[in-house]
Amino acid sequence: MDSYASPSSPAKIMLKRRSFLAYFSIGWLTSCFPMILAVCAPRQAIAQDDIPGTGDKDIPKPATQIKPGVFTVVGSVSDLDKNGYLQTKAVAVLRNPYNSQQLIAVNPKCTHQGCDVKWVAGEKKYTCPCHGSNFDANGEVLNGPATKPLAAYPAKIVGSQVLVEILAPPPVKPIQNIPSGRGRSQ
Ligand code: FES
Repeated sequence: MDSYASPSSPAKIMLKRRSFLAYFSIGWLTSCFPMILAVCAPRQAIAQDDIPGTGDKDIPKPATQIKPGVFTVVGSVSDLDKNGYLQTKAVAVLRNPYNSQQLIAVNPKCTHQGCDVKWVAGEKKYTCPCHGSNFDANGEVLNGPATKPLAAYPAKIVGSQVLVEILAPPPVKPIQNIPSGRGRSQ
C-alpha cells in the first residue's frame, strides 16, 4: 500500500503543530530566562546582606544599620589598631588597655544627660564634654555628675572586622538647655 500522505493530510498537520509548539516553547523559555534571573538575584543579595560578615568582606557596614541583638560590623581591625578605638553614634570600641586581646564596647552616650563621651587614650578614660563626667575603659564611673556606668556590649573580632552586639540602650534623661519659660514670645 502507498504510505504517501498529502501535504494537507491530518498526520502532516499534526506534525507541523507539534513542531510549531516545540519551537514556540523553547523560544518562550529562552526569552523568559533573563527575567527569571533578574527576579531571583536581588533577593539573594539582600539575604546575604542581612547576615553580618557574609556580604562584601572589605566594606564594613555603617553603624546606622546596626540591629539590636545582632552582632554587626562596626569597623575594621586595622582601623581599630591604627586609631586605638572605633567610635560611632551607637558604640565605642577599644582594646582593653591592660589586655590587648580583649575588646571592650560601650554605649558612648553619657548616662548623665546623653552627651557623647570621648576616649582620652593618654588618661585611659572616657570623658564627657558637657558636665565633666569621666568613665574608665569598662565604662565604670570615675567621677560624676553621672552615677551610672556606660552600657557595655559584647564585642568580638571575626576575620579582619570588629563586630558588636548592640543591645537596647538604657533610657537617658535628655539635656535641658533652655529653662522652661525662656526664649518664648509672649
Ligand atoms: Fe555627661 Fe552631663 S551629660 S556629664
